[in-house]
Amino acid sequence: MNKEALYELSLVQIKGLIEKEHNLISNLSNVSAVLKENFNFFWIGFYIVENEELVLGPFQGPVACTRIPLGKGVCGTSWKKKELINVPDVHEFPGHIACNENSRSELVIPIFNDSGHVFCVLDIDSSKLAAFDRTDELYLSRLAESLKEKHG
Ligand code: SME
Repeated sequence: MNKEALYELSLVQIKGLIEKEHNLISNLSNVSAVLKENFNFFWIGFYIVENEELVLGPFQGPVACTRIPLGKGVCGTSWKKKELINVPDVHEFPGHIACNENSRSELVIPIFNDSGHVFCVLDIDSSKLAAFDRTDELYLSRLAESLKEKHG
């Protein structure tokens, strides 16, 4: 199965899992599990906004940093700039926070609430360089949109 088809399938699977559950942590946990299982990402998870920090939320993969200040690292920068950030080589990103030395590339997508504030970010790490392309950006942005509709 190609990547597009796997994303299409994953989005249907996720829709089914989250449509009847209103708890944010439960839904983010199942989203993490689906993406880990279907794509075997090195690390996939969420950081949730709490005051001036991001706090580690549901994830799958190795142990990670628990708190990231606004504007720090890839996640804190995505939150501050309110934009998707695709980093082909994390060593080239100034201020990258190395939670795990095997992480080489990273994709972070902010998820908004109804007032246009970021309430959490989706973070996906790969142990390969330049692992994420336009297809990942498009489908994971669609996922971010459905989490906005559900929890935003
Ligand atoms: N590398 C991230 C921190 C989170 S971990 O990769 C799980 C960053 O620079 O924001």
